[in-house]
Amino acid sequence: MKKTYRIGVIPGDGTGPEVVREGLKVLEAVAKKVGFSYETIVYPFGGEHYKKTGETLPDSALEEFKKLDALYLGAIGHPDVKPGILEQGILLRIRFGLDQYINLRPVKLYPGVWTPIKDKGPEDIDFVVVRENTEGLYVGAGGFLRKGTPDEVAIQVSINTRKGVERCIRFAFEYARKRNKKKKVTLCGKTNVLTYAFDLWERVFYEVAREYPDIQTDYAHVDATTMWMVKNPEWFDVIVTDNMFGDIITDLGAMIQGGMGIAAGGNINPQGVSMFEPIGGSAPKYTGMNVINPLAAILAMQMLLETIGEEEAAQCVENAVIKALQSGKIKSMSAGKMGLTTQEVGDLVASLV
Ligand code: IPM
Ligand code: MN
Repeated sequence: MKKTYRIGVIPGDGTGPEVVREGLKVLEAVAKKVGFSYETIVYPFGGEHYKKTGETLPDSALEEFKKLDALYLGAIGHPDVKPGILEQGILLRIRFGLDQYINLRPVKLYPGVWTPIKDKGPEDIDFVVVRENTEGLYVGAGGFLRKGTPDEVAIQVSINTRKGVERCIRFAFEYARKRNKKKKVTLCGKTNVLTYAFDLWERVFYEVAREYPDIQTDYAHVDATTMWMVKNPEWFDVIVTDNMFGDIITDLGAMIQGGMGIAAGGNINPQGVSMFEPIGGSAPKYTGMNVINPLAAILAMQMLLETIGEEEAAQCVENAVIKALQSGKIKSMSAGKMGLTTQEVGDLVASLV
């Protein structure tokens, strides 16, 4: 008997539910076309649920997630909830709890999509960022001394383990091989200042590189990386970096590929359960207006399908997005300027799979 995938869905906050709906619409269309079956299990976690119950994410849910094939997330973040509570209590808790040690963020400019970088096109902007996703400054190591006094001290430590760094770098090399494009991995760091953390990264990088003689290596400091991403994005194929730098450079990446409306990412545990999301956040300003761009969520679904092994379906979804963009019907990637509603963009893509 053929497998039925079990996909956990967390629509979450703000525009999350609106874009997730369109991603699931495309999933339904492609499952029919390619012929696989799935069930969805919807979870209520997010800002509203927290306000009602005081609960972010119970242990029992995390245990349940471990039995799924994948998770699909809309957005987490609520204007009435103090920053940090939902992000740490839900998003980071899932990333850490399921050991999703890779945050994979493709930066790909599709034909027909506007980029703010003059004279660069789809042939120039096509790389991926492999962001370490369970360590660094994100672990919450640190604390206050003499808080609230003039002598206050705040400490926040970046944790980099040999194991965590190595598995991330190895994933990047494997991914460069699998991508089979420029076959190049660039380490993005700050070896001139962060002389402990990135010393470890650099040593492990060149050590692992020896096992991949077919893959070229390169190094760029994080500040220079942001410069090259704008000036010469065609230099990049796979960029590997730590959690904080990866967070920052992927927002820039999202902008050069056309904006948050089209930027997707995957929180990946290659041996476990992965979670896919549009990287744009909950966009409270646009909530319920049916104007947010669902393409990022649809491309997150494409990454989900690829990761669970439905590669043909993933390709179908990407092709449908490309056709939708080529149709000229979507005027802009920005919320409110698409010339179509959120639902209409979803319908268009679903009709093209
Ligand atoms: C992202 C987000 C999160 C992060 C926030 C919401 C905690 O910015 O997914 O990039 O910093 O990782
Ligand atoms: Mn971010």
